[in-house]
This record gives sequence, C-alpha cells and structure tokens, in this order.
Amino acid sequence: MDLVLLHWPSPDNEVPVAESIGALAEAKSRGLTRNIGVSNFTMAQLDEALEVEGGDQLITNQIEVHPFLANKALVNHCNERGVRVTGYMPLAVGKVMEDDTLKQIADKHDVTPAQVALAWVAARNIVVIPSSTKRAHQQSNLDAMNLSLSDDEVKRINALDRGERIANPSFAPVWDE
Ligand SMILES: NC(=O)c1ccc[n+]([C@@H]2O[C@H](COP(=O)([O-])OP(=O)(O)OC[C@H]3O[C@@H](n4cnc5c(N)ncnc54)[C@H](OP(=O)(O)O)[C@@H]3O)[C@@H](O)[C@H]2O)c1
Repeated sequence: MDLVLLHWPSPDNEVPVAESIGALAEAKSRGLTRNIGVSNFTMAQLDEALEVEGGDQLITNQIEVHPFLANKALVNHCNERGVRVTGYMPLAVGKVMEDDTLKQIADKHDVTPAQVALAWVAARNIVVIPSSTKRAHQQSNLDAMNLSLSDDEVKRINALDRGERIANPSFAPVWDE
C-alpha cells in the first residue's frame, strides 16, 4: 500500500491511541505500507497520536475541507505539527457547483466552480482528493491544479466559510470548530 489511514478516532478512546497507532507503525515497519496517517483527528487527538510510539511516522490527517468548511484552526494546527492535511469532500459533494461566488470566479477564468474550489483547497497546501465517477470530471479536476486564483478571489472564497460540516456521524469526535 502507498498509504494506510486510521479512518476515525476510536469513540471514547475505546481502543487506546497507543494501540492503533502502534499497529499502523508496525505495518509500516513490516513493509506492508509506505506511509501511515490518521483521519478525522481533532487537534488534541492528533497531539496525543504524535506522542505515542510510532506517532512520529504519521504523515497526514485527512479531514473535511471545502469552501463552506475551511477548518482553519485544525489545518493550522496540523501545519504547525508538520502533519500534512488531506482535504476530503473538497467539492462539498457537489454543492460548490451551486454557489454564486464560485460561479462568478469560475466564469472569469473560463473554468467550472468545481475547479475553483479545488484550486482554493490546493492553494492552502492541502492535498485535495475529489472523487468522480466521470472521466471528464476526473480530467477537469486534475486540470484544476493549474489554476491560480488572485488574492482577492481567495479572500472572497475564504468568506464563504460557514462551518458547514457534511461528514458528522454519531461516532464523530467533538470537533474543534
Ligand atoms: N476520511 C473520511 O472520513 C472521508 C469522508 C468522506 C469522504 N472521504 C473521501 O473524500 C473523497 C471525496 O469525497 P466525496 O466523493 O464524498 O465528495 P466530493 O469529492 O466533494 O464530491 C463528489 C461529488 O462531486 C461530483 N463531482 C466530482 N467532480 C466534479 C466536477 N468536475 N464537476 C461537477 N461535479 C463533480 C461527483 O459526481 P460525479 O461522479 O458525477 O462526477 C460527486 O457527486 C473520496 O475519496 C472519499 O473517500 C473521506
């Protein structure tokens, strides 16, 4: 494997962090995966994970990031800890296509609102992982990595943040924001 992630933190710490991170680190040391990381970890959970044995091997925290949930505090925290953020649901599962600000910026560049959203996430040094079942969308999503947004456009997209969380199952942790 290239990368194996712990998908969600264990609710109420049922499985101790040292155990799960230790298992990931062991998988890496046995050559079963090149890299390891976590997903949906809050700031405190990430700090705890980095402290346990093998935690220094964690390269990413995969979290929800799109224009309607910038997740700024957690992104900054991961950056400060040297853990790269991977942003999931970067298109807000298609909602970005309906947003007027994103549409206006897209028209100016002759691209789609999806491409604007992806370029905005990538410009924050976040690994961006849209999914699509359509070849044309997959190509257009890859092409979005060549799109540069002006400072003013970035500011306008930053202003769309409304803390709108889409992935929030009952076993989710208490989020930072
Ligand atoms: N770690 C976690 O807990 C977690 C949670 C949720 C998601 N994820 C991961 O994040 C990735 C993306 O998440 P997601 O699929 O839920 O949300 P997403 O990438 O924000 O949105 C996918 C939706 O956008 C559409 N789309 C894709 N490209 C498009 C384009 N260029 N133009 C218009 N529409 C487009 C897709 O439809 P079409 O198929 O029609 O293109 C699909 O309906 C996945 O790999 C998923 O596994 C991780």
